[in-house]
Amino acid sequence: MTRLAPSDVMQLRKDFPILDQEVNGHPLVYLDNAATSQKPRAVIDAITHHYERDNANIHRGVHTLAQRSTQGYEGARTKLARFLGATDSREIVFTRGTTEAINLVASAFGPTVLGAGDEILVSEMEHHSNIVPWQLLCERTGAKLVMAPMDDRGQIDMAAFRERLSARTKIVALVHVSNALGTINPIEELVELAHTAGAHTVIDGAQAAAHLAIDVAALGCDFYATSGHKMFGPTGIGALWARAELLEAMPPWQGGGEMILTVTFEGSEYNEIPHKFEAGTPNVAGAVGLGATVDYLETIGMERIAAWEHELLEHGTEVLSTIPEIRLIGTAEKKAGVLSFLVEGVHAHDVGTILDLEGIAVRTGHHCAQPVMDHFGVAATTRASLAFYNTKEELDALGAGLRKVLEVFA
Ligand code: ALA
Repeated sequence: MTRLAPSDVMQLRKDFPILDQEVNGHPLVYLDNAATSQKPRAVIDAITHHYERDNANIHRGVHTLAQRSTQGYEGARTKLARFLGATDSREIVFTRGTTEAINLVASAFGPTVLGAGDEILVSEMEHHSNIVPWQLLCERTGAKLVMAPMDDRGQIDMAAFRERLSARTKIVALVHVSNALGTINPIEELVELAHTAGAHTVIDGAQAAAHLAIDVAALGCDFYATSGHKMFGPTGIGALWARAELLEAMPPWQGGGEMILTVTFEGSEYNEIPHKFEAGTPNVAGAVGLGATVDYLETIGMERIAAWEHELLEHGTEVLSTIPEIRLIGTAEKKAGVLSFLVEGVHAHDVGTILDLEGIAVRTGHHCAQPVMDHFGVAATTRASLAFYNTKEELDALGAGLRKVLEVFA
């Protein structure tokens, strides 16, 4: 593997038209990639091409455009399956994103394995989208939501995790990479523990798929959810990967066209997987765009992306460590490119506003992970989140921007 050199990164940046602009009189420094990442020209062009040449409804027409459109949609499913390490493209269900994928599992699969008194185990660092669907399921079934705590570096406390797993645990739902802290969880080990206890495993891969090479077979999990827009693809498209036998055994979630084989007033016969879970006209252009995203990422190589982002993370951590007023939140041994921090004496929203005046985009707030904020006793952090198109110079600009923030509030 040849590593990504800074000159490669400068070349790759040219694929992203949005990065080439000034904001508030400064070159844009986009460090809000965990919220949503930017889209390469190849993805924008694939969506435009779809609407200019191929657009038609899928699986429903014999005409040429319907066939092209169907090929684009189903081709994207095959690409995404390969990208995630799945051998069978029927195991990919297109959804609006990670949130919808987790809700699908909670709603359709949850009640098949859970009853009153059973438990769902999540970690303390979950995004709200991996907490609230399970709370809703608990309300429906009488099951109980149990939380596995993390330590003060933002790592799951493995002893507590083991201790809170029991024969009552039917589902273990965990984030692969924390959006608020950057922690990369030891998913293989956690999945193995969960399976040994007899539980099924649901992994929130929203922050992982753009930054790490994902292999669902190696992770060993039962369900893996991801979002297109966080991996340089379009918004409104994502996927649930699930083992085929689980999808086959699960009842459908939403009813409508496409998810059925036959319908009479006496009853309906459901379609095969994955179509059983894709009621109605799906986001065809989004899937086509996501397929182009996968092509694009595979051309660069996820290992190279991960290695460059690690270099960036180390550089950014070093930059922040030179400013005594900054306290980093989330210092796990294994981290992806997320720098969440507090600036002494300055509210995160003020930090974000002043950085924006310097052309630097970061996210401020609780990052849809309020229990993480509660753990650290804070209401909000400022978060710089990285992608492979970021540079060390941009992290230096973040450091300079933060010094300005401190000057303003001195
Ligand atoms: N979950 C997204 C984030 O972390 C929106 O910003």
